[in-house]
Amino acid sequence: MNLKQQMEIMLPAIEAELQKQVARLDDAATRPFHEMLTYHLGWTGEGAGSEARGKRIRPLLVLLTTASCNGAEWLPAAPAAAAVELVHNFSLVHDDIQDNSPRRRGRPTVWKKWSMPQAINAGDALFVISNLAIMDLAGNYPADKVIRSARVLHETCLALTRGQFLDMSYENRSDLIIEDYWPMVEGKTAALLSACTQIGSILGGADDFTIEQYRIFGRDLGLAFQVQDDILGIWGDEALTGKSAASDLVEGKNSLPVLYGISQKGRFAKRWAASAIHPDEIANVARILKDEGAYEFARREGARLTNQALNALKKSNAQGAAGAALIELADKLLQRES
Ligand code: IPE
Ligand code: IPE
Ligand code: MG
Ligand code: MG
Repeated sequence: MNLKQQMEIMLPAIEAELQKQVARLDDAATRPFHEMLTYHLGWTGEGAGSEARGKRIRPLLVLLTTASCNGAEWLPAAPAAAAVELVHNFSLVHDDIQDNSPRRRGRPTVWKKWSMPQAINAGDALFVISNLAIMDLAGNYPADKVIRSARVLHETCLALTRGQFLDMSYENRSDLIIEDYWPMVEGKTAALLSACTQIGSILGGADDFTIEQYRIFGRDLGLAFQVQDDILGIWGDEALTGKSAASDLVEGKNSLPVLYGISQKGRFAKRWAASAIHPDEIANVARILKDEGAYEFARREGARLTNQALNALKKSNAQGAAGAALIELADKLLQRES
């Protein structure tokens, strides 16, 4: 079975577990609240469907990792797969407020649709449900594995808030260097992808050395993933990403291409330091940044980190069709346009 065939089996199981977890809030007295969550997860409202659900990369990583550990059963790990996707979605609901983003997955964001105060609360609900979901592993695994998985998840949420802090505190600055980028991305994105592969291998019964290799695989894959997100955030096609292509530059985000542009001390750096970028200038500024080599640089960094991730995966001795699918997934993420 290749990646596509495994996805066809795993994705319905992921959706079913997510629906079950979110149903905790399905109460007649607060129906619109449940709807905010089912809307964000892509199941209800205008435009509901597979694009509105997002890629579900994180839960897939959990299940493929579990299955790649000596052929362990992956279905019992479904509550953990749901938990990481819920953490991801909680962070997106809050991130769209923090980044002033009007669109996500091709639709208006939760805060645009229901107001910021309601979106903060909806994000909180997704966060708490993720904590309850990980506890549901107790029905399928011994207590030590559940506690170890829960600890990884909670430490990850803390790292995520640190990354988001750095991301926001970097906005509109022109004094940062490329090295400032990695701790931010390690927290905001790589921590969660590495939690997926750690938890997946803990539940797959891997030994400590192997879990550590999976952790590194997930982390480096996560760094590469954010680099590609940064590229798409400037030069991506809005119709494919489902997000506004202008917003990273307009919000003054110090993404990897921007930090590279600053380091070149050319036309881009001068413009960036002068004042905030206006929406009308986006096409021009993005072109200057590309001409000065930022696109090529970021693509190279993405490829370097993906290679590094695949080296760690080799050491983890990932096996069978699921092991091969993890390699395929890493390559696919590097080439993605959405
Ligand atoms: C977007 O993540 C946020 C980042 C960490 C870059 P994804 O690109 O995985 O978002 P969805 O879930 O597929 O929409
Ligand atoms: C990604 O943040 C990480 C989190 C959401 C925690 P970004 O702000 O870079 O991601 P997008 O581009 O909005 O999805
Ligand atoms: Mg952000
Ligand atoms: Mg954002």
